[in-house]
Amino acid sequence: MEDPDAFSHPYLDIYRTATASIVQGYPDGSYHPAETVTRAQMAVYISRALAGADWMVPEPAVSPSFPDVPAEPTILGDAAAGQAAYAICVACHGARGEGNEQLGGPRLAGQSDWYLVRQLRNYQQGLRGYATADIFGKQMKPMAETLVDDKAIVDVVTYISSFR
Ligand code: HEC
Repeated sequence: MEDPDAFSHPYLDIYRTATASIVQGYPDGSYHPAETVTRAQMAVYISRALAGADWMVPEPAVSPSFPDVPAEPTILGDAAAGQAAYAICVACHGARGEGNEQLGGPRLAGQSDWYLVRQLRNYQQGLRGYATADIFGKQMKPMAETLVDDKAIVDVVTYISSFR
């Protein structure tokens, strides 16, 4: 690079960032020390500086590098009985527990089984879905009541836990 003035104040910084592969000169060998820098270019410089050099900036992951880890099962019920009980749930929660935004039915797939069991008990015991203003909760409460006992709750949640 010919154009930075070797006696100017930032010369050493220009030299360091150029040799560290953080802020390079132009392909024609010039540096243009008086050129303004955009925010986007500054982001490039900072990511290089954080990584150590241009060639050390990691490629962004194409897909997340942390695969979906299924929640550890804490219950073991009768999945076939649960499947039969789940038939009524499909309308609002989806055939694979994916949820239904229009009907306000949240995603159930992937949720911890003990949490689902507790929520179903909460609806049944009137701890959830009782308030007049809780329109969605009040729709869910009678659905939980279709599960006749604790075994029915465990069975349906065992089935829900098979969704991926
Ligand atoms: C008429 C639609 C509808 C049906 C049918 C229905 N649900 Fe729901 N369910 C909802 C709605 C809406 C909510 C969210 C309510 C709230 O905000 O409290 C919900 C919430 C839940 C929750 C709590 C989720 C959480 O993350 O806290 C569970 C568990 C659940 N439902 C299970 C079931 C099961 C099992 C069935 C079938 C026996 C069923 N639902 C049938 C509408 C429905």
